[in-house]
Amino acid sequence: VMEPSPFEHPADVVQRIAAELKCSPTDERVALRLDEEDTLRHFRECFYIPKMQDLPSIDLSLVNKDEHAIYFLGNSLGLQPKLVKTYLEEELEKWAKMGAYGHEVGKRPWITGDESIVGLMTDIVGASEKEIALMNALTVNLHLLLLSFFKPTPKRFKILLEAKAFPSDHYAVESQLQFHGLNVEKSMRIIKPREGEELLRMEDILDVIEKEGDSIAVILFSGVHFYTGQLFDMPAITKAGQAKGCFVGFDLAHAVGNVELHLHDWGVDFACWCSYKYLNSGAGGLAGAFVHEKHAHTIKPAMKDLMYYFKHKGKLPTVQQRREL
Ligand SMILES: Cc1ncc(COP(=O)(O)O)c(C=O)c1O
Repeated sequence: VMEPSPFEHPADVVQRIAAELKCSPTDERVALRLDEEDTLRHFRECFYIPKMQDLPSIDLSLVNKDEHAIYFLGNSLGLQPKLVKTYLEEELEKWAKMGAYGHEVGKRPWITGDESIVGLMTDIVGASEKEIALMNALTVNLHLLLLSFFKPTPKRFKILLEAKAFPSDHYAVESQLQFHGLNVEKSMRIIKPREGEELLRMEDILDVIEKEGDSIAVILFSGVHFYTGQLFDMPAITKAGQAKGCFVGFDLAHAVGNVELHLHDWGVDFACWCSYKYLNSGAGGLAGAFVHEKHAHTIKPAMKDLMYYFKHKGKLPTVQQRREL
C-alpha cells in the first residue's frame, strides 16, 4: 500500500502518509513510518554519525548526549563511510612498504586511481566514461571548462548565472571575464528572483535567454542551488540556451548524488562537481568534470597537455606524444 510511485513529490508522500495515519504531517509517526519503509535504510550502517556529545555548540541540558545527531550538513561535507579507514590504511601501508612502486601495483594502483573509479560515476551523472574526468577540485575544473567554452566575441560576450551563486563560482565567472578584458558589470548577467520571492521562476529564466541569448556566450547554472535548494530544470535550460547558440554548463556540487542526472541525454555542454558532499569522499576528494561527447572534436582544449591527460585518463603522455601535441 505504501509503495510510493517513483514520481511522487516528497511533499505529497508526507501528505499521503499523514492522511493514512490520520495525523499531522509533522507528527513523529510520519517520520518513523518513512524510516520503516525506506529501502535504503541499511546504508545508514555504512557511515559514522556524530553523537550530540561530540559536537560543538550543543546545549547538553536539552538533548541526550549519547544520541546520534540528525545530520543536516551533507550539503557541506558528507558523513564518513566506515570503510574509509581500512582503504586508507591499505594504501598507507603500501606506500610505506614499496614507495613509488605503489603507483603500479596492488588492488588500487595509484596511477590509474581516477580511471578505476570513473565507472562508478557514469550512472550518477548520466554520462559515459569518456565524457568524465575525475581530477582536481570543482573550482579548478570550472576554470578549465570556462577557459575552453567561454570564447567571447564583441557580439556574444556574456555569462549568464543565477543570483547568489556559490561565492567561488561568482568569483570564477568574474575572473574569467576579467581575464578576457571584459567589463564585469556589463558581461556578468545575473538573474534574480522576483521582488519578495526566494526562488527563480523558470519562465523568467527562459525569458532572459530568449531576449538576451544572442549576446550570451555561456550559461552557467547550478543544478541544485546551494542556498535555497531549488532544483533547476536542467534539460529545459540546456535546450533553450543552445537554441540561442549559447554553451550551457552546470555546477553540480549540490545535485550530484542527490538528484537524477542525465547529462549526456540532456545534451549539456559541460559540467563540474565535487565529491565531498553527497558522494561522501571526504575533504580533498577528487572532483569531476564532464564534457559532452559531441565536443570531442569541436572544442579546442584550453590547455592541451591537460586535455591530453584528460582523454587518456591517467596515462601520462610519453615524451614522443608530448612532442606531437
Ligand atoms: C555550488 C558550489 N560550487 C562550488 C563550491 C566550491 O567548490 P571547491 O571549493 O571544492 O572548489 C561549493 C562548495 O561548497 C559549492 O557548494
